Amino acid sequence: MKHLKFLYVVLALAVLFAMVPAASAAPASAAVTCDQTYTATAGDTLSKIADKFLGSIQSYWAIMWATNQNNAADPSKYKTKIVNADTLEVGDVLCIPSKADADAFLKDFNPNSASGVAKLFPAGAKGQLIVGSWWTNGGEFAGLNQMFQMYKQQNPDVEIVNAAIAGGAGTNFKGQLLSQLLGGVAPDTFQLHAGKEVETYDPGTLVVPVDDVYAKNGFDKLFPPDLLALLKYKDHYWGVPVNIHRANVLWYNKALLAKAGITSPPTTWDEFFADADKLKAAGIAPVALGGHDGFELQHTLETILLSELGADGYKGLWTGSTSWTDPKVTAALDVFKKYVSYANADHDALSWAAATQLLIDGKAAFNIMGDWANGQFIAANFTDYGWAPVPGTKGVFDGLSDSFALPAKAPDKENALLWLDLAGSKAAQEAFNKAKGSICARTDCDYSSFNAYLQSSAADWKTDAIVPSVVHGAAAGPNYLKAYNDAVALFATNGDATAFQNAMAAAQKSFAAE
Ligand code: GAL
Repeated sequence: MKHLKFLYVVLALAVLFAMVPAASAAPASAAVTCDQTYTATAGDTLSKIADKFLGSIQSYWAIMWATNQNNAADPSKYKTKIVNADTLEVGDVLCIPSKADADAFLKDFNPNSASGVAKLFPAGAKGQLIVGSWWTNGGEFAGLNQMFQMYKQQNPDVEIVNAAIAGGAGTNFKGQLLSQLLGGVAPDTFQLHAGKEVETYDPGTLVVPVDDVYAKNGFDKLFPPDLLALLKYKDHYWGVPVNIHRANVLWYNKALLAKAGITSPPTTWDEFFADADKLKAAGIAPVALGGHDGFELQHTLETILLSELGADGYKGLWTGSTSWTDPKVTAALDVFKKYVSYANADHDALSWAAATQLLIDGKAAFNIMGDWANGQFIAANFTDYGWAPVPGTKGVFDGLSDSFALPAKAPDKENALLWLDLAGSKAAQEAFNKAKGSICARTDCDYSSFNAYLQSSAADWKTDAIVPSVVHGAAAGPNYLKAYNDAVALFATNGDATAFQNAMAAAQKSFAAE
């Protein structure tokens, strides 16, 4: 699986490194002869299929090329288009070229060249829509794909290029996108957290305001005031929000809690650790924790800080009115340390999605994670889970929102603007969020067909105190966030609370006002 992920990243990089203006993409050409076709089943990956039929995993490029060429030549006959090598769908019909054709294609194929990318994604009559994001996991991709399908239906002549780069919370995506933008190469639109994250991309230079899209669609009447305030930066809107996620959720596997005799989820840390001991005594791993994507520990501590400091105290850490040397921060660090001591020892090796999978598989009982975990449960058809606010955070909604932004150098601005209109629409938000595990950014969504968790989240959003998530771009600018991420990573290895608090006090001084 590891090397498949690697291949995927290579592909995504190739797409980003070689984003091509629609005009230079290859026109849809004649169909390729398939030596045979193969219909994807659950668990299939393109590289496995390439290995099986063509004798090398690298040949997956050739299958992608053949399948996509045929789709471009005659979409009614060849329905499958592979937009991302790592996210085959069950039922996708792949064109397997002959070994000779595959070898001939691979001989001249360079995934890092504009012509190479154009071969994989032949442009439609109306050009391309290159969408940058970090949504590659089950619920994430399922949500994005809902939007792709709708866009495709409305704009059948535009080729969608999924330029996603794996890595939760955008760990890999954000830096790579910035290098691209600085190099003058841009996708047509990309994922941007509402809030100060926009500072990463030199607003006004690398990204441009989308105020016109708001005016055209009346978005400033359709999103709630708390969210609009977060979206507005220096008097402009920089992204169209698709959702609202909640960060401070404690998920649990119901069957495992029942097995340990726990009848309701803990509401305080004392109760939590008592439950964790009961689980341990029953031979059940109490906590599933990730760390591989570089944000999971930081996310966990964020919610514990909120728990110990309360809504205003937590907010003050980022605005400068709460001191990092406050004893409540020390208390939060103690809870964090203890929480981690109940978790799987290999957390550094597991992504947030892999940690969520432990809960799905009944291998661990509790997990603190944002409600994209709910999207994973939905994608996996797993229903035996419960949720509660992270202990001590009842009545507080640690929120964040994903939006889509417009790069100054979007190669196909028209297509990007159509995407932004769609992103803010009721139909797209309902379809997207049901799969993604979040609630709508719009206030007029119909939640009757959303799952029970989402109905509860929509209700909480209306009544809870809202605080901005730091790890997911809302509370602080990129420099302050980086300082926090680094300090938590260090604390997780050396356990030195004083050093952590001093480092953060210094970071607050330098960055809180940014
Ligand atoms: C967040 C993002 C979510 C989710 C999560 C894990 O930053 O807002 O949509 O995808 O990362 O990747």
